[in-house]
Amino acid sequence: MKTNPHRLMLSLFLCFWTILGCQPEYREDLDYSHRVLQTWEIDEIEDGVIVQFEEVFWEPDDTISLRELITEGLVVDGRDVLEIGTGTGLLSVLSLRHDAVSVVATDINPAAVANAKYNAAMLADDRSLDVRLVPKDQPQAFSVIRDDEQFDVIVSNPPWEDGLVGKPLDHAFYDPEFELMDSLLDGLPRHLKPGGRCLLAYGHRPAIERLRESCQERGYAFKILDERTIEELEEDFLPGMLLEVKVPL
Ligand SMILES: C[S@@+](CC[C@H](N)C(=O)[O-])C[C@H]1O[C@@H](n2cnc3c(N)ncnc32)[C@H](O)[C@@H]1O
Repeated sequence: MKTNPHRLMLSLFLCFWTILGCQPEYREDLDYSHRVLQTWEIDEIEDGVIVQFEEVFWEPDDTISLRELITEGLVVDGRDVLEIGTGTGLLSVLSLRHDAVSVVATDINPAAVANAKYNAAMLADDRSLDVRLVPKDQPQAFSVIRDDEQFDVIVSNPPWEDGLVGKPLDHAFYDPEFELMDSLLDGLPRHLKPGGRCLLAYGHRPAIERLRESCQERGYAFKILDERTIEELEEDFLPGMLLEVKVPL
């Protein structure tokens, strides 16, 4: 009989955790077929590690300020949250751990959907998490969100550049023709509750300038939640800049 190497990797990983006395319980609803690329410790999660599946994005420096805001407990607690482009699920996991009432997380990369579900199951009470796969031919920000769904907070560390997508991981970097950015902005009046906030992490100056301009065109409030100004930034930079977009009441 042939052994699936991906399954074997995850089994070895589970054995390792079992030996350490932290055995995760087997769950029918999780997809264990992905290869684990690496595990990461991060300051915000002291009692576990973030598992990164192969073909899934990881760069925690993108979202330092956004994670700070979430863990301070002022942004998500008691609120309905949508995360667009969840990757490993890091931001959604933190939102669940900081008392979000519900979290909907989306991604266009099937490995990311499986990864986010896995991490949430291991690191949070995931009963109020709903992870949805965005079809490749419907990449708009709200394509898997019902017309009547509304959120207090929409968070995203989206792809930062216009470019072509080949393999699944490319979705982490490229937003072809900025369809995701534009559809996100277009959908805010329908999907943000009155007074709600859209919080975005960007580390690419041209994308930030485009976002600022697009917000002005739509009459939205655009705010930099950062000490830095756009003018002093390099074209590409880290840590990512935290931006807030609000729709006037
Ligand atoms: C820069 S990564 C950020 C991942 C994660 N939120 C983080 O901060 O580590 C962007 C993520 O958005 C996803 N993505 C790209 N286009 C998307 C779309 N149209 N709809 C949903 N997710 C998308 C990518 O697959 C990737 O996981």
